[in-house]
Amino acid sequence: MEDLDWSNLSFGYIKTDYNVRITYRNNAWGELEISSSEYVNLHMAATCLHYGQEAFEGLKAYRGKDGKTRVFRMDENAARLQSTCRGILMPELPTERFEEAVKKVVKLNERFIPPYESGATLYIRPLLIGTGAQVGVHPSTEYTFIIFVTPVGPYFKGGFATNPYVIIRGYDRAAPLGTGIYKVGGNYAASLRANKEAHDKGYSSEFYLDAKEKKYIDECGAANFFGIKNNTYITPKSTSILPSITNKSLMQLAEDMGLKIERRPVPEEELNTFEEAGACGTAAVISPIQRIDDIEKNKSYVFSKDGKPGPVSTKLYNMLVGIQYGDKPDIHNWVTILD
Ligand code: PLP
Ligand code: COI
Repeated sequence: MEDLDWSNLSFGYIKTDYNVRITYRNNAWGELEISSSEYVNLHMAATCLHYGQEAFEGLKAYRGKDGKTRVFRMDENAARLQSTCRGILMPELPTERFEEAVKKVVKLNERFIPPYESGATLYIRPLLIGTGAQVGVHPSTEYTFIIFVTPVGPYFKGGFATNPYVIIRGYDRAAPLGTGIYKVGGNYAASLRANKEAHDKGYSSEFYLDAKEKKYIDECGAANFFGIKNNTYITPKSTSILPSITNKSLMQLAEDMGLKIERRPVPEEELNTFEEAGACGTAAVISPIQRIDDIEKNKSYVFSKDGKPGPVSTKLYNMLVGIQYGDKPDIHNWVTILD
């Protein structure tokens, strides 16, 4: 792809050559199909359109210095999609089928995998939708699984650079016993107004407290939160947070570096005590937090006075990205090299 300006890509949609699809009907998954259409032909009463039977995933493929393509922890994305399926009564796609589809769609769109050191990656977006017609509130009997890919640049401004966030109390992303732990479209619909409000006020993203008490830290927009203090990596535990694969990986890397790990409820006031803080996710990678403003309480929690990412976040970022691109040894077997 000579005509793509790889280093200046945003996190947006660019048409690629192919997507792959697997349909489910008569209680069974069918064969993988290759499509060059960007469209889906849907029944107007499909459950995904009315009752939110929609799940998605997000992972990335990386082009290494050696020219090889690496995909990061796709078995984890397969497992999380299966968990989401249990959550909203959709059939689970077996891990082998998920992995076969990821490998196929990346290979078919090889010319869209950004070059090493361009700062861009190939974002892989699997989705699963209920396609059967229902008017009563019931799960569908038919489903379509699709994966498309699109080359992307950084999700937050500047990539690995600090950004400001704002605590939003006026909206809940997810209820304590709701669908926050699943990756369903409805959670993102619930976040749109909060996200717009944050952007309108000049922030990178909205920052959620727990829905019940507005006392504990929940999520950082579409990313998990972590804080660093006293040689400890601290990340919130809650029933409404999406279990981030990036966060899980960072906990392991932090442990490898000799940090202690704490996964527990984190009260808002504790923000005062963190030496560093970050948002993490596939799209965000690590997005170091410059400060979090709590406008209602007239407070500002500042993590970076000079605007630069802190030393622990930087070390974690370099280790994670190093493994993803194949520059550092993959000691935990997280990477699949595509041939
Ligand atoms: N939290 C939310 C709400 C997300 O949408 C995402 C993105 O997938 C994450 C956290 C980060 O998860 P992961 O690291 O698996 O991409
Ligand atoms: C991701 O990190 O993959 C996300 O899902 C973030 C957002 C684009 C929904």
